[in-house]
Parts: sequence; structure tokens; C-alpha cells
Amino acid sequence: MLLNLCTTPLVAITAFLFAFCDFEIFPLPYPAITHKLVDVPEEKIPGPSLPLEGTLARNNILREHAVANLFAEQVHGSESVAIGPTETSVTLLDRFGYLWVADRASLGSQEGYLLRKEPETYIGPGRPLGFKYNAASGHLIVCDSLKGLLSVETGFKRFHILANRVSLNSAIDPGSIITYANDLDIASDGKVFFSDSLNISTALNRENYYDSFWSFLLSLVTGYCSGRLLSYDPATEETHVIANGFWSSNGVALSSDESFVAVAETNCFAIRRVWLKGPKAGTVDTLVESLPGFPDGLSRGSDGNFWIAIVGLRSPVVPLLKYKLFRFLLAWTPSAIRPKVPDPGLVIKVSPQGEILASLWDPTGERVRGISAVEEHMGRLWLGNLKGSGVSYLDLTHQQSR
Ligand SMILES: *[C@@H]1O[C@H](CO)[C@@H](O)[C@H](O)[C@H]1NC(C)=O
Repeated sequence: MLLNLCTTPLVAITAFLFAFCDFEIFPLPYPAITHKLVDVPEEKIPGPSLPLEGTLARNNILREHAVANLFAEQVHGSESVAIGPTETSVTLLDRFGYLWVADRASLGSQEGYLLRKEPETYIGPGRPLGFKYNAASGHLIVCDSLKGLLSVETGFKRFHILANRVSLNSAIDPGSIITYANDLDIASDGKVFFSDSLNISTALNRENYYDSFWSFLLSLVTGYCSGRLLSYDPATEETHVIANGFWSSNGVALSSDESFVAVAETNCFAIRRVWLKGPKAGTVDTLVESLPGFPDGLSRGSDGNFWIAIVGLRSPVVPLLKYKLFRFLLAWTPSAIRPKVPDPGLVIKVSPQGEILASLWDPTGERVRGISAVEEHMGRLWLGNLKGSGVSYLDLTHQQSR
């Protein structure tokens, strides 16, 4: 019987891996080939999800009311939406690095948006993720997972790199490379807080764009808690690490009094608070955890509460992530048969004290799915779309929150 089993090579290899290896000698797929699998610290292993009831109960708000897939023909994979360069326009950055602007216009009897015919500029190659206008300077500040933190000048004529590595006088990780700039917020003094999610670079994929998903998945697989929160100070042009040890740091949003920065820790299904001011300054605590899915973009709403974009729901295999063997097999499983992450449309609103106030759903993802960022402006909630085409919005008059 035992002999019989061993003749099945797959079973034999699996048994061998299980019994003898700590996965030090087996390579992971490109670009994580030189990285190793490590144990995930106990406190990072996610507990069960909050129940989908009360303010988290499924509803049809996005499904029924969202204006979906605008510009889907032209704009592919705009992770975020930035309000600007005017009050009535929005800026999008696609996965190839083209920058697009759409202006509010009246289309017949209805109000809508018209995409300008040509992209305004090109900031590739790279993978723009989070971006936002600096209200004071008018520059568009961009997190590019390949190039670092960028600034695109007013009029889009030029862009330059603000930071692609940490300053030498940073107390933490001086001189280290910024491998995966992801999302940002800008303080009233112009300081930029941004996440560097993980230390595995974004790689070019077969469709010829830099795919941030694959290296994200590999960070989940390695168990590396290499995510950081950085600050860039325009006065000194220095970049410092202000918090580290995140299992993929993602969305970033300042509180309205700028006393803390909320940071999504994607693989832990949690939002942390990195305190800047007050008695807790310099410490990190938890704003909300046990979220039902992977938090991606984060922003502050007009009322001072936070909007969380949930890019995918938990899949049943989440509890297995604590096993190295499972993570190793996941890394080498072809994408066609990899366990699917359900990606309905979901946005969650949470107070600065961590109370869940509302959720907006498209439960089947029929109209909006896999929301990667959320940006509120004048009663309208813009929704980014990392994987698919086009972007969406919701007028908040439809929101049935308390
Ligand atoms: C990436 O981060 C992990 C965990 O923090 C660390 O062990 C590893 O050495 C880092 N790798 C590189 C290339 O920086």
C-alpha cells in the first residue's frame, strides 16, 4: 500500500516536502525566486471574519445605484481615481502608465463625464497605484509600484521621482530601496505619507504591463511582513520609515486632525493606526480588524470617517495560510486552478474609533467588482478598478447609512 502511494510522484513529493523541508532549498517562482518562505508571526495570523450582519449585511446599493464601467474601452486598470485637475474633472492612470482626464459634461438631458480623446501624458513604464493631487501645489503625487513616489507637474508636461529609496538618516532601514509604493495621503503641510507594501518587485507579465498582483500574492506566500509606512517631507526632500512590519501595507489615509495615519494591512484583514501626535505618538494600534475581505485603498470621507475598499472577500483557504506547505503549493499552482478569491463590489465605512458604520455592496459583482480604491468628492464616491476596465461612481444620496 505504502509502495503504491509512493509510485504516485506527486504524493511522494508532497510527503517529502511535508516531512523533511523547511522550504529553504526550494525556489519560489519569479520574481520571488531569491526569497524564502518564513513562518508568519502568531499575531499576524488572521482570526475569523466579523459576521455579515447589521451594518455589514449584504445589500444592493452599489448594484442598483452605481454608475459603472465608465471609459471601459480606453482605461484599463486604474487602481485609483483622483479628483482634479479642476473641481469638475477626474484623473485616471492606467496600468500601462497613461494619464487620462475626464470632464463633467452634459450629455443630452443627463449629466455625465467625457474622457479627453488622448491621454494627457505617459509616466510609464511602471505600475501606478495610488495617486492624489496636492491641493497646495497642484502637482499629482503618484505611488508607482515600480518607480517609487513621483510628482507630475501641473499641465502634465514633466514628472520626476521624489523618492525611490529611504534617506540615509532614517532611523529605520536607512538607504533601503522602495520596492512597492502603493497608496498615499498628503498632510496640510505638504508631507506625503505613503505605503511600501512588500519587498518583492512588481514584474512584467505576458500582456506587457507590470502586474502588481503576482508579487502581492508572493508576499502572501513568503509570509514576509516587510510592509512599511514612509513619509516624504518636501521641505527637506527626505524620506523616512515611520512604521514597519506590516504583512502588506496598502491603503493610507490621515485622520482629519492629522493625529494618526490609518494604514490597511491587507493580509491581516485589518486597518492599523500609526500615531503621529498625542500620548500614543510613535505607536501603532488597530483601528478595525477581522474584516470580511482584503482591504485595499483607504480614504477619509467628508465627515471624517474612513472609506475602505475591499478588493476581494476571504476565501475558505485563509486559515491554511499559516502552513508553509500550503503557501508553497499555492505559489506553484497555475493561476487557472488556483483557489479563486470572490470579488464582489464592497466598500466599508468605519469611524476613527473603529466602529463599522455602513457597507455598500454589489453582492454578485454584476455591476461593480473588485474595488481597489474609494474617493469621496462632493457627495460622489469614486471607485477604482485595479484588475478590470473603466471606473465607477456612486452618488451618496443612495446610501442608506445611519
Ligand atoms: C524581505 O523581507 C523579509 C521579512 O522582513 C526579510 O526576511 C528579507 O530579507 C527581505 N528581503 C529583501 C531582499 O530585502
